[in-house]
Amino acid sequence: KALTTVNVNGKAFEADDYTNITPKIASYLNSNLHLKKNHPLSLVRQRIVNYFYTFRYAGNPEFSVYDNLNPVVSTKQNFDDLLIPLDHVSRAKSDCYYINRGTLLRAHMTAHQSELLRSGLNNFLMIGDVYRRDEIDSTHFPVFHQVDAVRSLHKERLFPNQPDLEIFEPQYDTKNPFTFKNTISDPMKQSCHTLEATKVMETQLKNHLIGMVKTLFGKDIKHRWVDAYFPFTHPSWELEIFYENKWMEVLGCGIVRNEILVNAGPSNTIAYAFGLGLERLAMALYKIPDIRLMWSNDSGFLTQFENKDLDAKITYKPVSSYPQCTNDLSFWLPENLSIDTFMSNDFYELVRGIGGDIVEQVKLKDKFVHPKTKKHSLCYSIVYRHLERTLTQEEVNRIHKDIEVAVATAFNVVIR
Ligand code: PHE
Repeated sequence: KALTTVNVNGKAFEADDYTNITPKIASYLNSNLHLKKNHPLSLVRQRIVNYFYTFRYAGNPEFSVYDNLNPVVSTKQNFDDLLIPLDHVSRAKSDCYYINRGTLLRAHMTAHQSELLRSGLNNFLMIGDVYRRDEIDSTHFPVFHQVDAVRSLHKERLFPNQPDLEIFEPQYDTKNPFTFKNTISDPMKQSCHTLEATKVMETQLKNHLIGMVKTLFGKDIKHRWVDAYFPFTHPSWELEIFYENKWMEVLGCGIVRNEILVNAGPSNTIAYAFGLGLERLAMALYKIPDIRLMWSNDSGFLTQFENKDLDAKITYKPVSSYPQCTNDLSFWLPENLSIDTFMSNDFYELVRGIGGDIVEQVKLKDKFVHPKTKKHSLCYSIVYRHLERTLTQEEVNRIHKDIEVAVATAFNVVIR
């Protein structure tokens, strides 16, 4: 097999059977929308950072901020260090942008948690672009931005007025942490932690995050906690807010698994962690209807967020809305593929690769098994819309035809 290399961020990597990063995706690197002046993602980032700067200890900010970490990470950083099992779905090639088997574009900011802990930090925010293969609609884009955080406390900080309380159960040996098998079978806590310690940390975590959503959305915002599961925290929760008559999930969080702190240090502390998506918050706060607008260079977009007081109420007004154009794409799958084994994310990727950002949505419209031949057929609707002008039907038909041809070759399907 010929040796091929892929260049990402000015570095050459050896390609292998896991390589699925495309030039299109690589072109989004270094956009730094979260740092761009007047950009809505940057405004939300600043509001969140300012909120966390209000936490002080001996006059100094508790949290330090890292918003410039390299998005090219190892599978160790993105998964192994976070106790994500080898067969976990989040590692699938269909969900991530791999440069090769050992290297990928980070799928979450939590990928930097262990390295920052290892460098000696206790309280920090990690902000940046993350990359995931996903469906195509007005709320999904292969690149989005996250704010992640860790706060770890020693027993003296956790229980300042109760020196007799402990973080760890008496059987747990802080000098030899590896001799204790930490389990998560109790829904309230990890077996190594005392109930007092985990509850104090849980209360801090929840208060800090409720404070954050009240700062962003106003003090009357309604919220609820939903039990969740992440391999790297226990217990874990999701925070939802009641927004436009619906419950909207805004973040995942929990108490950091002790194994991570033991491996990366500081091993005699208890920590909380959370991770949130900036796009979803910005879209809700400023009523931005389509995630692709975040990538717009149209002055009609950015000027609406210009020179505003950070906490000013801004409501995005569509410059104008251009019509949608919907074309259907139906095809027969080859005999070796079924409706359930067809790799839909590969398909979305190809559609986006050819159609570019004018593809607003791809939705499965119909699936069908031929009663005689038992062949499977799929029908997708592709919705096209340009954000800055009206598309002509001929123009859309041309792109649609190109997509048909590419899909037929790439997946060995027969267009109907
Ligand atoms: N990394 C998780 C995600 O991307 C969010 C998270 C971060 C959850 C930290 C718990 C703790 O969904």
